[in-house]
Amino acid sequence: MSDNPYQDDRGNHDLTITRPGNEGQLGSHPGTGQPMETSEAFLIGDSMTGGYGKGPDILHECTIAVNRGEIAVIVGPNGAGKSTAMKAVFGMLDLRQGSVRLDGQDITDLSPQDRVAKGMGFVPQNANIFTSMTVEENLEMGAFIRRDDIRPTMEQVYELFPILRDKRRQAAGELSGGQRQQVAVGRALMTHPKVLMLDEPTAGVSPIVMDELFDRIIEVARTGIPILMVEQNARQALAIADKGYVMVQGRNAFTGTGKELLADPEVRKSFLGG
Ligand SMILES: Nc1ncnc2c1ncn2[C@@H]1O[C@H](COP(=O)(O)OP(=O)(O)OP(=O)(O)O)[C@@H](O)[C@H]1O
Ligand SMILES: [Mg+2]
Repeated sequence: MSDNPYQDDRGNHDLTITRPGNEGQLGSHPGTGQPMETSEAFLIGDSMTGGYGKGPDILHECTIAVNRGEIAVIVGPNGAGKSTAMKAVFGMLDLRQGSVRLDGQDITDLSPQDRVAKGMGFVPQNANIFTSMTVEENLEMGAFIRRDDIRPTMEQVYELFPILRDKRRQAAGELSGGQRQQVAVGRALMTHPKVLMLDEPTAGVSPIVMDELFDRIIEVARTGIPILMVEQNARQALAIADKGYVMVQGRNAFTGTGKELLADPEVRKSFLGG
């Protein structure tokens, strides 16, 4: 039919998204509460300390990372600094300590634009689409750094999110919450990212739409794009996570595989509602 890389195993809940060459990484992580081996991570915000402007530190030696072929999930209470950590990794915050590395290269001093050029795609928590522009214009805006033919990528986005094709001439602001999130993820995919960062991609959507979005996110990960995401739906997100971080007050409180965190009594009691 098509050679759309997003289309294999559509809707499959298979969690073993690890790509060839990464076998054996899962299961080799130390237990909950221990920092996992992240020095080889594809993208890492390492021991980040910093805050906004001249304000107080929000992050305290916070580390978040994602390996090739994996989904990493950050959970934690409101105000814990999850979005701040994502912004720090994307270069929207001046770090006072720590570093950000992408594929082994130190990118701590690069601007967000330069990070996009290096292959980072970021969907922020708020204001992540242009509401007065059409769906298609939003996708075109996403490809602003590209000089090559963007049509094949747009076709892939439409095959991943068919509803966006139907609504491509409509203003993005007229779409439902779940559809807007699809536009936001699609826009980020248009840059051809090597890694995708999503801040609460399922915010404000129904459980059915959330499941659907998670399935699409798994599909994207299966194409070989590692995903670092913040999620409010902690249980469901950890269930699809190769690696999970619980953040509290700007610090790493618990780190483990998604499975380990879901099984940890303290994490369950304090962060997953028992
Ligand atoms: N632009 C900003 N300027 C100053 N302080 C900010 C800014 N954005 C966030 N903060 C502060 O940083 C802290 C962490 O906020 P952040 O948005 O990172 O939390 P979060 O974990 O993403 O929360 P939520 O789950 O509600 O999205 C909060 O105390 C917040 O008031
Ligand atoms: Mg947030």
